[in-house]
Amino acid sequence: MIIEPRMRGFICLTSHPDGCAQNVKNQIEYVKSKGAINGPKKVLVIGASTGFGLASRITAAFGSDAATIGVFFEKAPSEGKTASPGWYNSAAFEKEAHAAGLYAKSINGDAFSKEIKEKTLALIKTDLGQVDLIIYSLASPVRKHPDTEFLHRSVLKPIGAPFSNKTVDFHTGNVSTVTIEPANEEDIANTVAVMGGEDWAMWIDALKAENLLANGATTVAYSYIGPALTEAVYRKGTIGRAKDDLEATAFKIGDQLKDINGQAYVSVNKALVTQASSAIPVIPLYISLLYKVMKAEGIHEGTIEQIQRLYADRLYTGKPIPTDDKGRIRIDDWEMREDVQAQVAKLWEEATTETLPTIGDLPGYRSDFLSLFGFEIDQVDYQKDTNEMVEIEGLV
Ligand code: NAI
Ligand code: NA
Repeated sequence: MIIEPRMRGFICLTSHPDGCAQNVKNQIEYVKSKGAINGPKKVLVIGASTGFGLASRITAAFGSDAATIGVFFEKAPSEGKTASPGWYNSAAFEKEAHAAGLYAKSINGDAFSKEIKEKTLALIKTDLGQVDLIIYSLASPVRKHPDTEFLHRSVLKPIGAPFSNKTVDFHTGNVSTVTIEPANEEDIANTVAVMGGEDWAMWIDALKAENLLANGATTVAYSYIGPALTEAVYRKGTIGRAKDDLEATAFKIGDQLKDINGQAYVSVNKALVTQASSAIPVIPLYISLLYKVMKAEGIHEGTIEQIQRLYADRLYTGKPIPTDDKGRIRIDDWEMREDVQAQVAKLWEEATTETLPTIGDLPGYRSDFLSLFGFEIDQVDYQKDTNEMVEIEGLV
């Protein structure tokens, strides 16, 4: 069928299999162009189908010839209805990995559940024996707690007081002021339950208990900090509490892995257009100004550039891993550069519906958003009939 983007609010209801496949191929080519990394050999990526997790899987496989197991939660296609983009991404990844002679298998289901953990552990046991890198890259609005069965819902709210600032509707380019009411204690606890470190720790506990972690194994989860402009709604808001918890969990896991010479890190990544970040008020305006500045400075990166740099310049250099004073790896270093932030802060003051087309990168934002769903990719012929019923080769 011919597949076109169908937008509803902040989401796109359709996705393009060929566009998603081309995205994956482009990421693979990028990693190969940067040369081999003396990196991991057997890798588990939790949240492997889109965003930073997909880039982590691609970098491990095509930068270091690693065997990979990917866990994700994606919608399969049905006749006349496209799959979610992560399904098509994973299908393309598996195909490319197998063609390159690499082991790759995938598990589609709720990573928060006991069932999916058990399934993953069993697969590692029979196929890989142990893993030496575990990437934790889940982004979810909900988590059903495996012990209580309670369905926690995360919220994106400030804490303590209402927050007002500018925001943009990136579809129309309309800049307006938004006010977000503060969270209550329950909101905070729920957001920490979904996006904090508890599930990461549960994964590592389970892997360790079954002796599935190689000596010297590393685990990395992803976090974000960002500037003062977005602090109230991000780092000092409910999601920030979850990230504080995730970062604290890295130390607990690190202690727990000492006897196998293992290590646990949080990597602080750059702000990028994803389905999740598009839904946070204020952030899309910040990103459109940030992109403009970083592109002008020649330091703009997408997920694959970020993660290739994480592996090549931070994790696998053969030297100690550089961290900040809170033990975090920083690949948001270029975003947070003083000159970059000074320029963004100045543009922020000037941003209106009228000025944004000149001072911001809304076209870049929109095109990154559509490309998440496989649309507006250069090499793809969208007039061509395509098959939505794509299977994932290594799906277990
Ligand atoms: P994403 O939405 O692109 O990826 C989320 C992944 O989690 C997908 O593979 C999805 O299938 C999987 N997933 C979601 N719920 C699941 C479940 N219940 N069971 C199994 N898999 C599930 O998100 P993105 O942006 O790559 O985020 C990953 C991490 O990076 C998050 O911790 C996020 O906070 C962090 N981060 C994101 C930044 C951004 O600007 N997008 C910046 C810095 C950090
Ligand atoms: Na991810």
